[in-house]
Amino acid sequence: MPQKTKSKPVRRAAKNQGSDNKLISIRIPENMIEDLRKVASSKGDLGYQQLIKTYIAKGLVREESSKEGAQASAKGVVAPALKETLKKIGAPVLQIKKQERDNVAKLADSQIIAEDIRNLGQYLKPYHRYFSGKTFLITGAFGFLGRYMVHLLKYLNDEVLEKPARALLLDNFVTGYEQRVISDKNLIFHRHNVIKPFETAEDVDYIIHAAGIASPVYYTKYPIETMDVGTTGTRNMLELAYKKSVKSFIFMSSSEVYGDPDPKHVPTDETYNGNVSIMGPRSCYDESKRFGETMSLAFWRTYNVPVKIVRPFNVFGPGIRPDDFRVLPNFIEHALRKEPLPIHGHGKNMRSFCYINDEIEAIFRILFSEENGEAFNVGNPGPEISVRDLALLVAKAMPYKVDVVNIDPPHAVYASSDPKRRCPDITKLRKLTGFEPRYSLEDGLMRTIRWFCGE
Ligand SMILES: NC(=O)c1ccc[n+]([C@@H]2O[C@H](COP(=O)([O-])OP(=O)(O)OC[C@H]3O[C@@H](n4cnc5c(N)ncnc54)[C@H](O)[C@@H]3O)[C@@H](O)[C@H]2O)c1
Repeated sequence: MPQKTKSKPVRRAAKNQGSDNKLISIRIPENMIEDLRKVASSKGDLGYQQLIKTYIAKGLVREESSKEGAQASAKGVVAPALKETLKKIGAPVLQIKKQERDNVAKLADSQIIAEDIRNLGQYLKPYHRYFSGKTFLITGAFGFLGRYMVHLLKYLNDEVLEKPARALLLDNFVTGYEQRVISDKNLIFHRHNVIKPFETAEDVDYIIHAAGIASPVYYTKYPIETMDVGTTGTRNMLELAYKKSVKSFIFMSSSEVYGDPDPKHVPTDETYNGNVSIMGPRSCYDESKRFGETMSLAFWRTYNVPVKIVRPFNVFGPGIRPDDFRVLPNFIEHALRKEPLPIHGHGKNMRSFCYINDEIEAIFRILFSEENGEAFNVGNPGPEISVRDLALLVAKAMPYKVDVVNIDPPHAVYASSDPKRRCPDITKLRKLTGFEPRYSLEDGLMRTIRWFCGE
């Protein structure tokens, strides 16, 4: 513990029980300021807040009500943002590139992700024998869902399996984070664009074709690549599955194959044929997934390749890219910056959200099933919630007041073609695989926010 060092008063915005901010002052010994700078530059405002809290808890710094703060809050003056305080101690302003680095660090040693993966390992206990000694090929392995699968394999290899699982992990990083976060000699990375055939001398037992460009903002930026990965990429993976006589093949399709469903078909089951625009801004994604499904079924019917189709409905959770503009990470990012949550348009469109652990559990249950030639909705039907109510839920989860604002949709893909409702009927999934969602929207949301905060 530092003794009798010089200290500088630093003002910060502190939360009280209500939603108003008040000013308090804390005295930080000068020799700690360097630590704060480091944390602020690597973890941003929240890391800094966390460290100050730790210092206070350990009695290393004193927290005291400041006269000025009390006067300010009495007058109803809004406390200065934490960024102002950071500027005072000279913390560098966060850069986008650095934010990406931080997110990768968060993936590497996140307690929340580690806990999720341990739980997932438990939930999948009846299937451990299917992993043991088998070789998996996962495309899009460095994307949001792919990384959880890779973490799971790593955990099973380290903690559970007598014979480790091997995996070939393919990604071209068009949208995935480039850095590797695990090292395991059995999990082998290949930088590979799946629109080119992939050759390997290894036997392959299972293929999960998860490569895709899933965020509307990115698929409008890369429409041709989006179509290529869903069409040619899928074809290449199916050819490989045939050559290797795999035990099972999953094509990661999307709930977008239903387009903007007729309200009579919401919740939507797998028999609904969809209402998809051929020419709209989303069609490059939607049609490529529809084509991918048809191609997968053709390989099942023609060559007996044991394909299963997964149609995810709005997955969220730790590891989701904060910068890919999907609705939940977008709200959380704004809320943590204490900025108003931007609702594109009226906010009345309805969605349902599936926590990532549920999604991954369901994918493996389907992979190891005998349900070849079948498509499965994978999501959590409850609750179906409007985008506005979702924003309010995120705002409510914050310890300070956050506003919600309606803005003009910044992009055509949201303005004209956003489906009005999206809610899965998962009766088939429940019946044929025994899957039941385990995480409520609130649980998942709190876990995701904690991850965004660096946990
Ligand atoms: N996350 C969801 O809510 C959701 C919803 C519906 C469907 N899906 C589908 O599930 C799959 C996984 O989703 P995600 O959220 O992990 O997506 P993601 O965008 O986070 O990851 C996809 C990965 O695929 C890689 N990729 C794209 N094109 C490639 C190519 N040609 N060759 C090799 N790699 C390529 C990207 O670099 C990225 O790492 C995708 O196919 C997506 O379309 C996801």
